[in-house]
Amino acid sequence: MSTRSGRCRAVVTAVDRYLPERILSNTDIEKIIDTSDEWIRDRTGIAERRILDDQPTSVMAIEVANGLLKKRKIGADEIDLILIATITPDMFFPSTACVVQDAIGASKAWAFDLSAACTGFVYAIVSAAQFIETGAHSKIMVIGADRMSSIVDPHDRATCILFGDGAGGVLLEPSEDEGLGLFDFELHADGSGGEDLFIKGGGSANPPTHESVDAGFHFMQQDGRVVCKFAVQKMAEVSLSLLHKNSLSVDDVDLYVPHQANLRIISATADRMGLSMDKVAVSIEKYANTTAATIPIALSEAVEQGRVKRSDLVQLTAVGGGLTWGSALLRWAM
Ligand code: UT7
Repeated sequence: MSTRSGRCRAVVTAVDRYLPERILSNTDIEKIIDTSDEWIRDRTGIAERRILDDQPTSVMAIEVANGLLKKRKIGADEIDLILIATITPDMFFPSTACVVQDAIGASKAWAFDLSAACTGFVYAIVSAAQFIETGAHSKIMVIGADRMSSIVDPHDRATCILFGDGAGGVLLEPSEDEGLGLFDFELHADGSGGEDLFIKGGGSANPPTHESVDAGFHFMQQDGRVVCKFAVQKMAEVSLSLLHKNSLSVDDVDLYVPHQANLRIISATADRMGLSMDKVAVSIEKYANTTAATIPIALSEAVEQGRVKRSDLVQLTAVGGGLTWGSALLRWAM
């Protein structure tokens, strides 16, 4: 689906991130489970991750929301909608977006959470853009936030090394300039792959019991090899498909911001696409996989490093639980 012409475009007018202070390095993890710094670096590219102790996901999302207001120099009462992509909400309900709405005093905004795991931010920015394009809203906060340490089994070496906690987000506003903003996207889901990456318990299928907690149903599980293969194939496929649909090639991309699950997945994707790693935003070494937060965190760092300028072509691409995957193309407006 493409953006309909004659409507205004959604442009990013502010971007921010928040990472908890506590660092959990590979050598720290070596002391807890049977693994090594060398194995983790070789297989994933991760050196350390951030951990949010004894606090909920909303704490990080609130930091980002306030950061966006500060950067754009606007009041919370100007916000129309707060959309939070997360699979680690504070609780089932109220939504984490409602917690953030109250905390920042966004009295006019409506608010909801969106669940698409690692593809959450791409799903969310595309969804939010529709409200801008139709003219319904003029200021939307889109935040990806996950406290993965709350759903990772710290003794499962196949998963605990991969994840970290963090949040990032953008402010979306309308622009009359047809040449700027989010102009196309491609989103997918294949629920038949649900069992490759999931949490078995806690929901209505397996409500929590003493037995389910003893069995660790509240921890995430995955088939790492299957997900790895799927991720490389789909990230490259959806990115190229979207570019070609818009008569663009990898040479036109100025900044490629992929979901950060594993450095091997990122470089294999770039390799398949024929894209130089110079154009790829990479932050996995410091923060590991923060699920819905990886893309806005990496984007925020790239912007701060001056890697993107007005009119540059930015591509955001992710694969995650669901299974879900997708890509969005935007012309940078800041
Ligand atoms: O955002 C989406 C979320 N998930 C992902 O992105 C995960 C995608 N998958 C991956 O990133 C990789 O599959 C992993 C990093 C999870 C695993 O890497 P791999 O190269 O696929 O390793 P493997 O699962 O094939 O395991 C190789 C060996 C095994 O030992 P044997 O059976 O060969 O003796 C594992 O038991 O490595 C062992 N192993 C470890 N060794 C040291 C697994 N985890 C560890 C560990 N430390 N942490």
